Amino acid sequence: MGISLLTLAYLIGSVTFILGLKMLSHPDSARKGNLIAAAGMIIAILGTIFLYENEGKKLGNYIWIFGGLLIGTIIGTLSAKKVKMTAMPEMVSLFNGMGGACAALISMVEFNHLQHQQFMVSGAPVGGGTLLAIVLGLIIGTISFAGSMVAWGKLNGRIKDFSFPGQHLINIGLLLLILCMAGYLVWQGGEVSSFYFYLIFILSAVYGIFFVLPIGGADMPVVISLLNSFTGVAAATGGFLYDNPVMLTGGILVGAAGTLLTILMCKAMNRSLQNVLIGSFGGNKAAASGGAMASGGTYKEITLSDAAMVMSYANKVIIVPGYGLAVAQAQHTCHELEKLLENKGVQVQYAIHPVAGRMPGHMNVLLAEADVSYDKLHEMETANEEFKTTDVVLVLGANDVVNPAAKSDPSSPIYGMPILEVEDAKAVIVNKRSMKPGYAGIENQLFYQPKTSMLFGDAKKALQDLIAEIKNI
Ligand code: TAP
Repeated sequence: MGISLLTLAYLIGSVTFILGLKMLSHPDSARKGNLIAAAGMIIAILGTIFLYENEGKKLGNYIWIFGGLLIGTIIGTLSAKKVKMTAMPEMVSLFNGMGGACAALISMVEFNHLQHQQFMVSGAPVGGGTLLAIVLGLIIGTISFAGSMVAWGKLNGRIKDFSFPGQHLINIGLLLLILCMAGYLVWQGGEVSSFYFYLIFILSAVYGIFFVLPIGGADMPVVISLLNSFTGVAAATGGFLYDNPVMLTGGILVGAAGTLLTILMCKAMNRSLQNVLIGSFGGNKAAASGGAMASGGTYKEITLSDAAMVMSYANKVIIVPGYGLAVAQAQHTCHELEKLLENKGVQVQYAIHPVAGRMPGHMNVLLAEADVSYDKLHEMETANEEFKTTDVVLVLGANDVVNPAAKSDPSSPIYGMPILEVEDAKAVIVNKRSMKPGYAGIENQLFYQPKTSMLFGDAKKALQDLIAEIKNI
């Protein structure tokens, strides 16, 4: 009876993960999808705690289990409530790293079990499959943990990009060494000492650090989503190990979704996955280009009243949101401007670049929060067509994603990244606080083009003032 109830709990868990993931694909249903998957996870966890039996014995250790759950729940809830939307990628990295660490710890515990119960007691060689799952969980989990910690440090500015000549080759050599040692360990079965096992752990941690350290500027999102998929695969190895279907399903879903997202992000940045895997991806190019703050010529400013006038009398306005909009928390004010302009007969749309902001879907989430209709959002390809028939593009705290150097300057670190081609519109108004560069640290020639005007100020304040001006027209 217990087993069948447990199987049912795992089935419910697995189905809710799939349903939840499906619902995450649309902003309208994403919140509900998240809750449904979380409910499924609670059922699977409680099922394991109370229904799992091994040789007629329940798990027990309830004080340890619930103590851990309580501490984790308090930390998780407080940090999720406190985190700013703009710091979300850091938190994703940190939590992802914890998942990798869990997978690596499971491998260590199970390796220890195998050694004591099977190597020593029976002297029989361990099943290759079990050892393979343990070693893979150790390698992938450790790389994910170490890499995610470095990514976390880089995103919050504590760790700087770092690379040295030949790092590229050292990374490949390290990875090959780890794989060879893992192969030897599995092939030898029970006769190998734990020395190799812990050496693999240390080398994997070093590889994880070396792999992420040189990745610079605009390339971090790809690596974060790749590390996410690593953690999923590492968790899936735990599912194999414990013959646990819900862990396997969850791990595979995270692994597959992370891989697909990585491929999509690579496409959005026009990078190849191979470059990411050998860990030299985007390294220090921003610094190498040396053009970060080079003067781009003269730019012109626009007054609030002129900006209000130009926008009010336009037929079509496209808003391009970026990281600055998120920092200023100006999404609601932006929606207000959209409504106001629409009341004046202006057609208002939005153009969303896939890596605008600091995490995948950042702009979609922000605009959905402000109740902006999903139908008004254009993805990059359609937006680039729409700009050709647009009177005014209002760039709100976006920079790299509208930088024409990505198309025209082969020495630029973002060269090749598809961008929103806002300069195809009749006029461009750029709102930001200064002439400082964006995330990739490079200058933007768009700001110096004759059809571009700068509207300086915090995005929320500028939008509020713009709304007031438009109301007076
Ligand atoms: P950025 O290129 O970072 O530019 C944002 C601009 O917003 C800055 O130039 C800044 O200029 C301005 N800004 C900051 N605070 C502001 C405020 N309160 N009001 C008005 N403007 C403000 O942003 P983007 O165009 O959205 O591009 C995203 C970049 O982040 C890309 O390079 C991308 O690769 C990278 N990235 C993306 C992700 C994902 S997955 N989306 C993850 C990590 C990194 P001032 O300082 O002059 O105001």
